[in-house]
Amino acid sequence: MDSLLIKGGVPLEGEVTISGAKNAVLPILAATLLTSETCVVRRVPDLSDVKFMAKILMSLGAKVVLDGDTITVRAARLKPVGNYNLIRKMRGSICILGPLLGRQRQAQVSLPGGCVIGPRPIDLHLKGMRDLGAELTIASGYINAKAKQLVGADIFLGGRAGPTVLGTANVMMAAVLAEGVTTIQSAACEPEVVDLAYFLNKMGGNIVGAGSPTITINGVKELHGADHDVIPDRIETATFAIAAVATDGEVTIRGSRPDHLHAVLDKLKEAGVRIDRKGLTMTVRRGSRLKPVDITTLPYAGFPTDAQAQMMVLMTLTPGLSIITERIFESRFMHVSELARLGADISIEGPSAIVKGGTRLSGAPVMASDLRASAALVIAGLAARGTTQVNRIYHLDRGYEKIDSKLRRLGARIQRVRES
Ligand code: EPZ
Repeated sequence: MDSLLIKGGVPLEGEVTISGAKNAVLPILAATLLTSETCVVRRVPDLSDVKFMAKILMSLGAKVVLDGDTITVRAARLKPVGNYNLIRKMRGSICILGPLLGRQRQAQVSLPGGCVIGPRPIDLHLKGMRDLGAELTIASGYINAKAKQLVGADIFLGGRAGPTVLGTANVMMAAVLAEGVTTIQSAACEPEVVDLAYFLNKMGGNIVGAGSPTITINGVKELHGADHDVIPDRIETATFAIAAVATDGEVTIRGSRPDHLHAVLDKLKEAGVRIDRKGLTMTVRRGSRLKPVDITTLPYAGFPTDAQAQMMVLMTLTPGLSIITERIFESRFMHVSELARLGADISIEGPSAIVKGGTRLSGAPVMASDLRASAALVIAGLAARGTTQVNRIYHLDRGYEKIDSKLRRLGARIQRVRES
């Protein structure tokens, strides 16, 4: 297994270009199962999750060609069941359920397990499929779904923590070929949901309202192939912006969508960060003095839970007290104990972390527990004195394309090593 060795204390300087969004490309690749024609998806990031999804599509009988950052998929004929072990290993693969049920009225998909950030139930996904008229049973680790015909319905998809992103995507993909009109209430408004709806409409779908809490899907008979550029990754953008400020550097971020990041950019400005925008390019650096800010993670357009850990590192470096409240995933504080190894002073009170900032971090060996926690540990290592070794970076490779070489181009002293 690989780990990263980081010699900290170097301000990041220069330019970085943002890759396509992991959380947009995974459901879009699943949506290619809805047609027997060829789909071309561009600006696909080179990530282990993407390779996983490609293998899952192939295990379902699709022809998949990866060529640089372009993936071509043709699912001429489909098998009802995909590779159990592949599917259960990646949560995002749950979003093949909607396309399989939508296109062939039956599906057998392995149940995704929970993960370190929370139990992550899929009750809302199953509710949505049942509301469309599907019969579902869970047996031997599989979701077994079938329907004579999927029929449009009014579906409320709000849950304990608000809307569900992949649940909205899944129901949208099942309903696009259903008979009649489906309305999703309390739909997720994330840009990745909008990008999926955009792709489905390019395939001949009839979806309106994506990006708002009410999405209306007018079912169509069939879909055709389409060609699509995936949106840039807003969480990768947030990660590089925070890394620039944490190292007291100056970074120009290209090819991002600042309009997908208002909550993060707003909080950074409140903390005293300078952000100069020109179209889709932003230059980020510290302003005068960093100030502590309080953060509460919320569904989009609120502050994204996927940037919570990275922002916590910045607050650790900022003199004063800040409170970070996690409202989406119950136990998304796995990074706290590892940051403490670097000298951070953070205590947990229920859903909140109380950060006593201003401590000078010093390098140490730390363990990544999940994708965004590993990004936070990398930022902490870049800001810390001495050397930090971040272990189990396979988590990082799931969601960040070539992050170590991108950081090296910004002057970071970072190298990938085989774990000792
Ligand atoms: C997506 O996960 C993202 N993953 C996550 O990013 C992201 O953290 C999350 O949305 C929230 O923004 C992908 O897009 C592949 P949810 P998803 O369903 O769709 C509860 C990353 O780091 N819930 O919106 O699985 C759930 O437990 C990853 O890139 C139910 O209760 O998240 C959570 O508390 C991590 N029942 C909340 O809703 C359900 O049926 C939001 O989860 C579904 C969800």
